[in-house]
Amino acid sequence: MTKPEDPSRVLIFDTTLRDGEQSPGISLNTQEKLEIAQQLARLGVDVIEAGFPITSPGDFDAVQEISRSVEGPVIAGLARTHVADIDAAWNAVRDAARPRIHTFISTSDIHIEYQLQTTRDDVKGQARAAVAHARQYVEDVEFSPMDATRADIEFTAEVCQIAIGEGATTINIPDTVGYTMPHEFTAFLQKLYELTPDLRNVVLSVHCHDDLGLAVANSFAGLLAGARQVECAINGIGERAGNASLEEIVMLLHTREPAVGLSTAVNTREIARTSRLVSRLTGYPVQPNKAVVGRNAFAHESGIHQDGVLKERTTYEIMDATTVGLEANSIVLGKHSGRHALQQALADLGFEITGQGLNTAFKRFKEIADKKKHVTAMDLEALVTDELREEIAGYQLEWFDVEASSRRPPHAIVGVRTPDGEEVTGSFTGDGPVDAIFRAINSATGSEARLREFRVDAVTGGQDALGETSVVLEVGGISGAGQGVSTDILEAAGRAYVRALSNAIRRRGIMAEAEAATAAAASGSPVRTP
Ligand code: KIV
Ligand code: ZN
Repeated sequence: MTKPEDPSRVLIFDTTLRDGEQSPGISLNTQEKLEIAQQLARLGVDVIEAGFPITSPGDFDAVQEISRSVEGPVIAGLARTHVADIDAAWNAVRDAARPRIHTFISTSDIHIEYQLQTTRDDVKGQARAAVAHARQYVEDVEFSPMDATRADIEFTAEVCQIAIGEGATTINIPDTVGYTMPHEFTAFLQKLYELTPDLRNVVLSVHCHDDLGLAVANSFAGLLAGARQVECAINGIGERAGNASLEEIVMLLHTREPAVGLSTAVNTREIARTSRLVSRLTGYPVQPNKAVVGRNAFAHESGIHQDGVLKERTTYEIMDATTVGLEANSIVLGKHSGRHALQQALADLGFEITGQGLNTAFKRFKEIADKKKHVTAMDLEALVTDELREEIAGYQLEWFDVEASSRRPPHAIVGVRTPDGEEVTGSFTGDGPVDAIFRAINSATGSEARLREFRVDAVTGGQDALGETSVVLEVGGISGAGQGVSTDILEAAGRAYVRALSNAIRRRGIMAEAEAATAAAASGSPVRTP
């Protein structure tokens, strides 16, 4: 991607599907990644980092599928400086209309000495060879000196100049361990400009982690120092404490544009919806007081504040909830709405659903409309995402019976459809009805899953609200997250549990694939033939 002509334009590089997906416990499959990538395109990000293709055939396939079907943003694949990594990244993104290879190597002595166990000279050689190799495939090449903020700046500048000399079009400065502070980062980047003669000819990018809660502040400091690409993730997910949160960066630039003079191409009205989708599919909840997308981000508790907002919204609000798409709770359908109305409402929400998919969505909608007076846009969104999970789940909850009483321990019997299509049953007397269902599912599937987290949320307000449950469990040391939606909390819990179980089992398969891929790479055989 060439440097934008407009000096005030900030490129948004979304790494939800790569760095975000490296968050503990998150494991998205290809279909889920595709769904998120399509929403990111609707949101209007400039670059989607779709994955790290060398790491497993599953990651490769997802990046390839996104490259083939998501239109608009540049699609980037991550690669270490190894030839096999760059080849895999290229093969995964080559079908994108606008492909990018993003290659990286550490420049800090801590990483060079202990992790890479090599020398600075070797790092320079690897950076040079990697960018040159990537440029043989594609014009759009990004280079990152990993752990740059803890590295010797002279050496980092030398490596960046080498990368630019070989044709890198974006230089990304990662604060890999979330160590820097805003004033320090500004000074670092200013110095980097002085030391790297050609840095002004390429896009300078920043990639900040949130270990000290400074990822957004540091990214902003980077922009003030001249960076024009920010790497960030929806809901701030990512390694450890996460990445800079996309919605915070974008709304900061949007809200304070008159003071800062920088802008993005993001359609801010898609922010809330993107946040909900990522939260649902990853199983990572958004904290209620999270800036911009938290449930309370626009709620006013104190009487003085409520009074002020009623008189004039701007007394206590610096952003309008509609700007980030938080008005999506409007009533869209009722009990008597038909198939066509549902299809139209879904299309308005960006879901093009026809044929069998529409039949299933209509059946679920009717079940819910029978129990709920009004079905809102957020209800529909939850339903469609839930149906999407249904298609991909390995196990499916077919039915359950629970006997609960305050005088006897609750007893549950469940019927579960296995990935082979067989129905298996199991029963258990548990400490509570939810516990009884979960353990009955263990008994039906013969698994020794242990519950780690269980949460229940209401999709919207009101007594007839749809319940959304999240489960994190562990099987043999491998965790899996799952969610379920229903007006019946026990059903939502059961659905979430079988999905979490399926995800944990799938992750075990992915990890085995990744190990096989690493072993194949070590033995010199190709990781993946295109
Ligand atoms: O945090 C980091 O250094 C990274 C690089 C791969 C850019 O994620
Ligand atoms: Zn990172």
